[in-house]
Amino acid sequence: MAVLSVDALERIDTIVQKYPVKRSALLPVLHVAQNELGWVSREAMEEVADLLELDPDQVEEVASFYTMYYTDPVGTYVLEVCKTAPCSFMGAHEIIDYISETLGIQPGETTADGMFTLFRVECLAACHRAPMMQVNHRYYQDLTPEKVDALITAAQQLQLQTAAGSGFQIRKSWSEEVKTEG
Ligand code: FES
Repeated sequence: MAVLSVDALERIDTIVQKYPVKRSALLPVLHVAQNELGWVSREAMEEVADLLELDPDQVEEVASFYTMYYTDPVGTYVLEVCKTAPCSFMGAHEIIDYISETLGIQPGETTADGMFTLFRVECLAACHRAPMMQVNHRYYQDLTPEKVDALITAAQQLQLQTAAGSGFQIRKSWSEEVKTEG
């Protein structure tokens, strides 16, 4: 079953043209699929496989290898806290525990209202500003419980203000709004 829009297919076509062989475009094409659907479903993998002349299982192997692709549905806001050594030394585990307690979810889980998903991830290359997390496409650094509270509150308020918009639009607007405070 086709799940990608005409617009997504056009963007994929443009990306594929840049590579000597179709399969080399897999990573950016997966991003297109995920940006449109919010995650990479099995149906999306099959469609991508068809477009790039790959086996669906090969697409799944790649999508499930990288933490940047979600192979299960996620919340509107994906909180990915770095747990690698430098962040860990600077309090990442305390931040993870604080988020877990505040939202009532464990790493890998999504809140019942579908707003937040929490993940522990490997180094995101912002070690000099540890502890840090990525929320959708944006980094938030030098984290403290107070900063986490501010981010969650901002997300909840924007979710309410833009409830009619799609998840991706909400993500973008929130990222831009909180940028100056991060
Ligand atoms: S160790 Fe956390 S960003 Fe590198």
